[in-house]
Parts: sequence; structure tokens; C-alpha cells
Amino acid sequence: MSVNITPGKLREMKKEGEKITMLTAYDFPTAKIMEKTEIDAVLVGDSVGNTVLGYKNTIPVSMEEMLHHTKAVSRGLENPLLVGDMPFLSYQASIEDAVRNSGRFIKEADAEAVKIEGGSEFLEQIEKIIETGIPVMGHLGLTPQRIHQFGGYQPRGRTIQEAKKIYEDAKKLEEIGVFSIVLESIPRNLARKITEEVDVPTIGIGAGPDCDGQVLVFHDLLGWTEFSPKFLKRYADLISIIEEAVKDFQKEVRSGEFPDSEHSYGVDEEIREKLMNQLE
Ligand code: KIV
Repeated sequence: MSVNITPGKLREMKKEGEKITMLTAYDFPTAKIMEKTEIDAVLVGDSVGNTVLGYKNTIPVSMEEMLHHTKAVSRGLENPLLVGDMPFLSYQASIEDAVRNSGRFIKEADAEAVKIEGGSEFLEQIEKIIETGIPVMGHLGLTPQRIHQFGGYQPRGRTIQEAKKIYEDAKKLEEIGVFSIVLESIPRNLARKITEEVDVPTIGIGAGPDCDGQVLVFHDLLGWTEFSPKFLKRYADLISIIEEAVKDFQKEVRSGEFPDSEHSYGVDEEIREKLMNQLE
């Protein structure tokens, strides 16, 4: 039975102890696949930048690129909750930017919620977006838009000071009304403490098994990227499958094996004769 997933439904799932599943998607065919599954939420992540657009990291991703991909996903998606990821500089500089750009995800791209990286630094922006009527998913821990400040993709929250900040930020985000929080690359005991102490669902990526749900980047899970952090489990080896298919195509074209008569159009005898007469 298909169920339309809302932010409220995710909160109910936490209460019921039902695990939440979320994956990223960046295009229509992937959205159609998600629709056939019981995935609860689909995130059009700014990971589109390094995953499919070829950028070094997520920093260069623009609002226009995010809207383009979110629109494609929304055309193929009905039941899972559709979350658009606010890219770098779409909300940091002002409350006005934050409201206008989050509104564009909802108004132009049919997203149902937005995700925002960061905690106490952006409470005013997040509060105003929620006041405007847009559900917000928080994101703490390793927030890739701060990659230059962090100096790499190593896990966060491994010092007392940093763990305390992540914990306190989670409490503040809950207080101002986010409907869930992504916890990325933090120690599992910190993720467990936050999960136990906030009422909103936590969705982990590299944050251990005790979160209320898990998210992975679709291309990573499929083995369609070479990214291989400790937390990643690959459920397929798509690079090898695609490479083999491309090589088989090339080999068969070169040998004349493809296209054969099964893959060629024919015409019936009468039409063929008329055609030939006309061509002579
Ligand atoms: O951009 C993204 O895909 C994300 C997930 C890793 C949570 O932020």
C-alpha cells in the first residue's frame, strides 16, 4: 500500500520505533525507482555537485542547479517525502535569502521540505523559514559546505568541545521546530545520546546504528562512485556493470554482430518491391 510520507509521519515513525530510510536522487528515472520502493524520503542533495556534475565538492552548486534536479525528481515522485538541499550561500548571508531560496524549492520545484547544514549559526534563518510554513530538516556533524574550514572529510565530534556543540545544536534545532536532523560522520555514542534526547527523528550517515533512520548517497550505495568511507556499504557494483555493457556494445558493433535482424526494421515484400521500383 502506498503511503504519502509527511514530516509528521517521520515523527510518528520515531515514536513507533520504525526505522526511517532516505536516499538521494537527482533525476526522473531514479525518482521512478524510489517510487516503486518503500523509501520514506528522497533528498535532492547538493552532493549532486560531486556525484554527477563533476565538481570537486558541493561548494560550487547553485540554486539553479538544485532547482533543475529537484524538478526532475519531483516529476517522478509521489509518495516519499521530497526534500531539497539548500546549497552553499543560498541561506548563510541573510534571513531574506534563506526564506526566498527555500520558498523557491517549494514553489518552483515542488519539494515538500528543505535541508539546511549548520546549527546555532543559522537559527534565525531556520526559524524564519519554518515560520513561513516550510518544513526544515537540520544537518549536523560533518557538514560538507564547511569542508575548507574543517580541512577534509574526517569525522566530527571527536573532541569534547565539538561533541558538546553538536549536541547543543541538536537541542536548539529541535526547540525551534525542525522536523528531523541528519547526523553525518560523528561517533555512534554521540548520535545515540542525541537520538535519545530529542523528540525529532535523527537520520544518520556515518553516525552508527542507533539513529532513527539512515541515509546514503544513491550513487555511493550502487557502487557508481569511487568514494569509499568506512561507513559506506555498497549494495551493487554499477561501475563494473556499466563498463562491461559499454565494452560489449563496442565489441559487437566492431564485429558486425550488432545490429542483427532482430534489432533491425524490415518492410513486407509488397512494399519492398514498390520501394525498390521507385528507387530504380
Ligand atoms: O548532499 C547530500 O547528499 C547530503 C546527504 C549526505 C545527507 O547532505
